[in-house]
Amino acid sequence: MYPRSFSAIISLGFAALSSAISIHKPYSNHTNHIPFPSHLVHQFPDPTWVENIRVRSTGELVLTLVTKPDVYYVDPACPSTATLIHNFPQNLAILGITEVQLDQFYVLGSNFTLSPVPNLEIGTDIIYSIDLSNYRASTNSGAIISKIADVPKISFGNGMDTLDASRKLIVIGDSIQGAAWLFNVETGDYSIILREPEMAPPPASGGSSLGINGIRVLPKAYDEVYIYWDNTNAHLFCRVPFSLSTLAKTGPVEILANFTSADLTTDDFALDEKEGYAYLACQQNQILRVPLGGGEAVSVLGGLNSTVVAGPTSVAVARGDECEGTIYVTTNGGLLTPVNGTFTEGGEVIAVKTKRK
Ligand SMILES: *[C@@H]1O[C@H](CO)[C@@H](O)[C@H](O)[C@H]1NC(C)=O
Ligand SMILES: *[C@@H]1O[C@H](CO)[C@@H](O)[C@H](O)[C@H]1NC(C)=O
Ligand SMILES: *[C@@H]1O[C@H](CO)[C@@H](O)[C@H](O)[C@H]1NC(C)=O
Ligand SMILES: *[C@@H]1O[C@H](CO)[C@@H](O)[C@H](O)[C@H]1NC(C)=O
Ligand SMILES: *[C@@H]1O[C@H](CO)[C@@H](O)[C@H](O)[C@H]1NC(C)=O
Repeated sequence: MYPRSFSAIISLGFAALSSAISIHKPYSNHTNHIPFPSHLVHQFPDPTWVENIRVRSTGELVLTLVTKPDVYYVDPACPSTATLIHNFPQNLAILGITEVQLDQFYVLGSNFTLSPVPNLEIGTDIIYSIDLSNYRASTNSGAIISKIADVPKISFGNGMDTLDASRKLIVIGDSIQGAAWLFNVETGDYSIILREPEMAPPPASGGSSLGINGIRVLPKAYDEVYIYWDNTNAHLFCRVPFSLSTLAKTGPVEILANFTSADLTTDDFALDEKEGYAYLACQQNQILRVPLGGGEAVSVLGGLNSTVVAGPTSVAVARGDECEGTIYVTTNGGLLTPVNGTFTEGGEVIAVKTKRK
């Protein structure tokens, strides 16, 4: 019942920055001045689309690529080397990634290709596990890779996060069906747990658009979390309270930010629980910050015509005391939408300092 292929028309062209995204003085004296200081951690060859990122408990980065079905390892303390942990030959791209228990990572593979036009073979998604508990980066040995399950009912699995580690449950955003899937990494069982209007791809003329992209879980109270997501082509950032015991929402969807009037579209994002902000990778070459409870979006790095973050794809909060106040941003180097229509470079990981030490 699923179409064989899908041509994603991903909002190309330049958007005018409107006054809705305004630059403000930092809210607190711990916050760095905008634009936040940033530096390159690692750049891959051109063309490379770095799609997603997880930070290991020990601070190293696990990166997924869509230009090749690869997962890389980068140690910010030794950033010149990116080590290929694994190439997944059963798929053409690797998208979402999450960690369920310490060093137990899960990734989603898909037959998504960018060239000559973005194209997705629906029904090709696979969930794999990457066990890094005995991984030795120096010899690139000890990673244990397993295929967990084919998930052909998912149309476009994109962002991923852990919902309940003790019950081995993760959530996956489906950008075409406009839904969040629940996936049990132990049994391989999966089903839709949320299908909200705010997750749906808006109608697009002459093609398809993307709905829910990133998805993140934030603890709220005992047995209750907030599930956050952004919707790329509806230009929304939202959350809903959700019960872990009933696996159902416990309240209405809240729209935390609406980027429509600024004509900004977002890819994946991270939640900085400690500082109370979400950081969103914005396809118009910048990083947006939105308070976790909703409010004004502030552009904290980059800009429409800037190459500081060319084609941001995802964000992760650094781990470890010495990295407090750092976020990592991945990019596609402008591969889909070159900066000013001309500039592209290899995809990168950038470290951004949100906070003064
Ligand atoms: C921040 O400002 C408050 C009051 O303005 C002051 O008490 C505090 O020491 C400042 N903290 C830092 C780290 O500068
Ligand atoms: C996805 O692509 C891989 C690599 O080309 C191929 O081996 C695999 O059969 C494809 N999957 C499906 C379900 O078509
Ligand atoms: C977002 O803002 C646009 C333009 O202001 C508006 O048309 C749209 O209805 C808003 N979306 C939601 C879900 O409120
Ligand atoms: C893009 O164009 C603007 C002027 O409109 C210019 O300031 C900027 O440097 C250009 N960026 C690149 C990467 O060419
Ligand atoms: C970006 O560059 C384009 C031309 O390439 C220009 O029309 C536009 O005004 C610039 N916008 C900003 C925000 O610099």
